[in-house]
Amino acid sequence: MKYKYLLYSSVSEIDKINVYDILKVAREENKKFGITGFLICHLGGFYQLIEGKESNINQLYHNISTDERHSDVNMIIVGEREERFFPDWQMGYVRIEEDIFSQWNNIKDKDLVLNEFISTAQSSLQF
Ligand SMILES: Cc1cc2nc3c(=O)[nH]c(=O)nc-3n(C[C@H](O)[C@H](O)[C@H](O)COP(=O)(O)O)c2cc1C
Repeated sequence: MKYKYLLYSSVSEIDKINVYDILKVAREENKKFGITGFLICHLGGFYQLIEGKESNINQLYHNISTDERHSDVNMIIVGEREERFFPDWQMGYVRIEEDIFSQWNNIKDKDLVLNEFISTAQSSLQF
């Protein structure tokens, strides 16, 4: 089976919202729908990769895009793969104490942004 993956960024005042509420619901819901992925929270907002069956990813992305806890939801890259990037994570999470928009927004090649995202997420899993 092929899995759809989707990486987006969004803007949020992360100190004014409860990220743990988002994560708790996300992990419960994603388990039901066979969705995995990773959420990076940084000083400017979020980057998130979601992956799973195409119809489930489309529905989740619709929900996420209309969620008022963030804005400017911007799809960076979408594709299909035989294997998941994050098979063991209903929704992995790391918080980074800097604003990474300034670095990643300037990268024109979207595959490179995906590579940056995956390596940042994976290096945070080692701890
Ligand atoms: C940054 C962010 C990430 C989110 N990630 C997920 C997720 O991975 N899975 C999920 O079910 N909901 C996630 N949500 C919550 C959804 O936007 C939405 O509240 C949830 O799917 C329930 O939708 P419903 O109330 O319309 O049923 C996220 C919300 C935000 C703001």
